[in-house]
Amino acid sequence: MMKTKSVVFDAYGTLFDVNSAAEKCKDKIGSKWEAFANFWRTTQLEYTWLRSLMERHKNFWEVTEDSLDKSMRVFNINKSMKNELLNLYKVLSPYPEVRGVLEDLKKKNFKLAILSNGTPALLDELVASNKLNNLFDDLFSIEEVKVYKPDSRVYEIPVKKYNLKASEITFLSANTWDVSGGGNYGYNSIWVNRNNSVFDILDFQPKNEINNLTQLLDIV
Ligand code: LAC
Repeated sequence: MMKTKSVVFDAYGTLFDVNSAAEKCKDKIGSKWEAFANFWRTTQLEYTWLRSLMERHKNFWEVTEDSLDKSMRVFNINKSMKNELLNLYKVLSPYPEVRGVLEDLKKKNFKLAILSNGTPALLDELVASNKLNNLFDDLFSIEEVKVYKPDSRVYEIPVKKYNLKASEITFLSANTWDVSGGGNYGYNSIWVNRNNSVFDILDFQPKNEINNLTQLLDIV
C-alpha cells in the first residue's frame, strides 16, 4: 500500500450528522422525525444519482430542497416548517470526535480536505459555523465538475489538485456507496461504519472499517 499523503473526507454523514436538522425539530415533527429524516436523505441521494444519469444537473442545495418538498408531502409535515428545516441543514452538527481527530491529523502534516456533493457556499458555511475552517487545506465540491458522486470525475479532483496517485489518498466516508466509488477509483478507501450496517456488493471491499474517526489515527 502507498503511504498516505492526503486524508480526504466525505462531508454529510461522515463529518456532519445529517439527521441533526430534523432532530432539532423533533418536538414539532413528533415520533416520525427519524423516519422522515432518513427518507429525506435517501431521496436527496437518489435525486443526485438520477440527475447525473439524466445529465440534468442542479446543485446540491436545490436537490436538498426538492427532496425536502417530496419528503414533507410523504410524511404530511406542515409546510410552515420548510424554511426552518432547510436552514438547519446549513448548520449541521459535526460528530463529537471530528475536531480532535482533525487536529491530530493536522499535526502529522497530511493534506486535509473535504470532497463533497455540497456546493462551495454550503461547505464554507458548514465548516465555518462549526469553527473547523483552519483545519482543512481544501473544501472540494462536485460543482467543479457538475456531476455527482460516484462519478470518477469527482474523485479525480483532489488527485489533480495535489498531484498525487489515487492510492496516496486515504478517503473516508460513512456512505457505503461512496466508499465503493472512491475505492473503485483507486483511493485507499475506508468505511466509517457508524451504525453497524452491512457493506455493499459493488466490487470493492475496504481494507479498513472503523466505527468512528478516532480509529483512523492508528491506520494512517
Ligand atoms: C457528500 C455526501 C455523499 O458529502 O455525503 O458528498
